[in-house]
This record gives sequence, C-alpha cells and structure tokens, in this order.
Amino acid sequence: MIRRFQSSESRSLMNEPVSNFGGFRVCQNSRISKFGEPEVLKVQEVEAPQPERGEVRVQVKATSVNRADVMQRLGKYPAPSDCPQDIPGLEFAGVVDAIGDGAGDWKKGDRVFGLCGGGAYAEYVVVHGRTIAPIPANLSFSEAAAIPEVFITAYDALVSQMRLVPGDNVLISAVGSGVGTAAVQIVKALGARSIGTSRTQEKLDQAKELGMDDGILVGDGKFSEQVLKLTGGRGVDLVLELTGGAYVEEDIDCLAAQGRLIVVGLVAGAKANVNLGKVLSSRLEIKGTTLRRRPLEEKIQVTNVFAKQVLPLFEKGLLKPIIAETFKLENAAEAHHFMQADKNFGKVILTL
Ligand SMILES: NC(=O)c1ccc[n+]([C@@H]2O[C@H](COP(=O)([O-])OP(=O)(O)OC[C@H]3O[C@@H](n4cnc5c(N)ncnc54)[C@H](OP(=O)(O)O)[C@@H]3O)[C@@H](O)[C@H]2O)c1
Repeated sequence: MIRRFQSSESRSLMNEPVSNFGGFRVCQNSRISKFGEPEVLKVQEVEAPQPERGEVRVQVKATSVNRADVMQRLGKYPAPSDCPQDIPGLEFAGVVDAIGDGAGDWKKGDRVFGLCGGGAYAEYVVVHGRTIAPIPANLSFSEAAAIPEVFITAYDALVSQMRLVPGDNVLISAVGSGVGTAAVQIVKALGARSIGTSRTQEKLDQAKELGMDDGILVGDGKFSEQVLKLTGGRGVDLVLELTGGAYVEEDIDCLAAQGRLIVVGLVAGAKANVNLGKVLSSRLEIKGTTLRRRPLEEKIQVTNVFAKQVLPLFEKGLLKPIIAETFKLENAAEAHHFMQADKNFGKVILTL
C-alpha cells in the first residue's frame, strides 16, 4: 500500500469507480462529497500502481502546486478524462522504480522528471517512458520539480508556437507566477526584451533580478499606455498572457503591427471585449494553448524539445528554478492556501 493525496471532492464528478486512470491505479471505493477549500485534500492509502507496456513507475520525491490544481480542487477545472479526477499534480521529480516492457533505456534508480495529466501528489506515479527526462546532476529533486510545467509551458508558447526571436519585445502578465518567472528567464536567455506586469511591487522587484527589463504595477488593470511609452509608441511584438480576462483588451491595444498574442491562463476571467478593428488593421495573430489536454504523441514531442533545447540552458546556468516555498506533501492544504493568496513568486514545492 502507498500513500497519496486526493482532493476528496473531485471524485464526485465521476459516476462510477475507475480502477486505472492513465496508468495510475486508484482505490475503487474512494468517494467524493464536494469541491471546496484546501482542507478537502486528504492523505489516502491505495494500491501501488503498476507500469504497463511503454510505461515507467516513478517514486516521487517532489512535486509542485500549480494554479490548475487549485482550480481543479475548487471544481472549476476538471482533469482530462484519462487522468485521475481526484489526485492533483501535473509534474514530478523522482527515481525510476519499475519499468514496463518497451519503455526505453531507463534503469531503476535513474533520476527523472516530467509532466503528467494529473496524479503527481502521490508516492508513485506511472507515466509513459518517453514523457520523462533525466534530471541534470546539479539539480536537487525539489529544484527539478519546479521546472517541467512552467518552463515547458513558457518555452512551448513563446518559442515553439509564437516564434520568439532575439530582439523581440515581449509582454508577460503575472510575471511573478511560476510560468512568468520561467518566461522572463527564457526571453532573456534568447536575447529578447521583457516587460512584466504584476499587481505586487515586490514581485516586479524580484523579476528584475531575474533579468526582466521593465515592470509595470497593474493596480487598475490598465497597462497599455505604459507599454507603448516603454516601446517608443511601437508596441510589443509578443504577449504571453497568463491572466486572461480584460488583460486581453489591453494586450491588443499595446501590440505592434503583426504582433502575436498567446493566451495561456485565465485567472482574471475567460471573457474579453476584443477590439477587432485593431486585430484586423494591425494584422494581429491570437492563439490559445494548453499542455494538459494534448494527446500522448504531442506530450512526447514537447518533452523531446524540452530535453534538447531547454535543459542545456539549465546546464549552462542561463535558466534556474525559482522556488517560493516548500511544504511537505502532508501539508498540501497549507501550500494551496499560500498559492490561492497569490503569495508565491515562482513555484510552490511539495516534498515526500
Ligand atoms: N495553458 C497551459 O498549458 C498552462 C500551463 C501552466 C499554467 N497555466 C496558467 O498560467 C497562469 C500562471 O500559472 P502559475 O501556476 O504559474 O500561477 P501562479 O504561480 O499561481 O501565479 C498566478 C499569479 O497571477 C496573479 N493573479 C491572480 N489572480 C489574478 C487576477 N484576477 N488578475 C491579475 N492577476 C492575477 C497573481 O500575481 P500578482 O501578485 O501579480 O497578482 C498570482 O500570483 C495561470 O493562469 C495558469 O492557469 C496554463
């Protein structure tokens, strides 16, 4: 038997017990009552999962809290249907513990990290053997657990999808978020210029230490005039939108001709009143993205890009994991309170 964390509400979404979600075997008789506050997270004993063909089992040493976990716990962001509905956790760092047939060249004891669709608040997680990468020798498990979700999201959105090039002016909203702190570093490492927004001055000060060029304190939700001033009236080439809602209206107002906007997060809302006149006349490109709902082959692809293009930047010291606070897995409720109160600059880690 192993211990795992589960949000005792989220199983209420399920009509019948399920024995295996994406390779993670769960206790068949666990039931959920309702979504709610962090205290609904409870430790539960379940049978250890077994890797099937192509999969490995990882003994998790550290995982992290993502905004998606908070939303899932509140009942606002259901996990994909092939993932556990009741166990949060989108990423993990640990050691290979068991290996299914055809899962690649992994050996027991290899230090690995990666993404999963859910289920990482657990002592063991089973994942596809091609969606993990080796942890660089200079990183601890906690440091490694602070990397996959935010650096893969930021690199994939900025570089793979929106074609970031040296010299671009990039606007990053919620720059002190986990994804924001990753994005600032990537923009700097690739020779572009960043402007970050935050509602918290201290986060802007900390982001400057990471290489952010300019920061804007967003009190009333308005920032386009300041962005235009900072770019000599031209506007930015690219916006990484991590908050959504009315921020998108401001983004459009401060994009340069043929500017690109990618919507990654919606903490400020899922609706915006968009100026389509500007979209047309400036020939803007607007895109949305999500990692969690991609099919396996696309997750393998982003893992390959991460291993080949992003990990070397950690090895060269151009990128580093940013950890705001570390909690024991047993104190996941405390960690959720911390993130929900917007106290974190960078990542919130859970250790086992
Ligand atoms: N699409 C994907 O695949 C993907 C992957 C990962 C994350 N995301 C999204 O990316 C965003 C960042 O994620 P994260 O885990 O890095 O977040 P995080 O560390 O929890 O940071 C979120 C920050 O956003 C700011 N914020 C919160 N509510 C806001 C509001 N109503 N208006 C303006 N700012 C607000 C807060 O900073 P201030 O102090 O500045 O207010 C907060 O600390 C989230 O929206 C998340 O859902 C998407």
